[in-house]
Amino acid sequence: MAVVFSRRVIAARGAVEVQLALLVALAAGLGCHGNSTTAPTTTAPAPVAVGLRTAAAGKLIGTAVQSGYLSDSRYHATFARDFNYVTAEYEMKWNVIESSRGVNNYSAGDAIVSDAQGQGMQVKGHTLIWHGSNPVWLGALPAAEFRAAFEEHIRAVAGHYRGRVLAWDVVNEAMADDGSGLRDTVFRQQLGDDYIADAFRLAHEADPQALLFYNDYNGEGLSAKSDRIYDLVRTLRAQGVPIDGVGLQVHVSATGYPSLASLASNMRRLAGLGLLVNISEMDVKIANVPGSSDSRLAAQRTAYHDIVGVCVAEPGCHAVTFWGFTDAHTWIAGDDPLLYDRQYAQKPAFFGVFDALSRK
Ligand code: XIL
Repeated sequence: MAVVFSRRVIAARGAVEVQLALLVALAAGLGCHGNSTTAPTTTAPAPVAVGLRTAAAGKLIGTAVQSGYLSDSRYHATFARDFNYVTAEYEMKWNVIESSRGVNNYSAGDAIVSDAQGQGMQVKGHTLIWHGSNPVWLGALPAAEFRAAFEEHIRAVAGHYRGRVLAWDVVNEAMADDGSGLRDTVFRQQLGDDYIADAFRLAHEADPQALLFYNDYNGEGLSAKSDRIYDLVRTLRAQGVPIDGVGLQVHVSATGYPSLASLASNMRRLAGLGLLVNISEMDVKIANVPGSSDSRLAAQRTAYHDIVGVCVAEPGCHAVTFWGFTDAHTWIAGDDPLLYDRQYAQKPAFFGVFDALSRK
């Protein structure tokens, strides 16, 4: 079942803990679509026909998708069966939408939104302001024109998708890796530290119903960086900035991820601010994990199972999104970080997620 968190419900939350009423909307069809069409790998149990979203433990189960693969029948059938929450992997980024200043082309993002809505899925917009994937012309703008371009971009894109996305990653990866504070991006240089608050206010004006998230990586467990993220969002909340949640990207490796206790503590302290938390871009690298293929796949399964299990156990964690679902199409070259292999067979990692969502 798809669950929907309405902004109005979030607004009713207590200051100490997130009191979430789940609006349960039945996703379009939960039927089984038959087993995957290829033989399972030798190391995974027989394929299961029901999708991950069927075992979703009250969470939205998502994936990044690429519009160019939606016409691939295996890609689409897998995506349709397992997920109810879709993020455009790159199609809603500034360099794709507005490669030439003043000319917005939403066609690739619209294709993803239309496909998702045709299946009763929710959509997360990604991402309005990020130091990556910006159009070349932005960096060459005179300072006097930068704020206008910033404001127009947010108003135009969030306005275009108004009512069609459940949430936005409004600002992405604004925190420096060393825990020293904000990353020195072109936005901070041109607009000052308040660009983050400005972005959230503009997004809320453009789409008052959308849930608005701050999204980042390497801030999943308790660390100097996650402390800075916590400080940031606590300050934004105190200033009355319309922010609803924090996305923890969870780009990790099977032998390198935060302790589960640290992840749970970080989720809880963010929820204690009245914010939602989600796992927003999970993938688990194994290429550099020592041992046999089976042992690497087993370690990957454990990582997926245990990390997703922390979200399942945390009331304030409302969604888990994987950064793709088949190793045939991952942004991490030379690795196999996802739940399906390159022939679309369910890997042990898939079963790890399925068991975590089934609270096993
Ligand atoms: C990546 C996509 O996967 C690539 O296809 C694209 O070329 C660059 O961006 N953190 C993020 C995502 O928030 O937007 C990035 O996605 C991966 C890191």
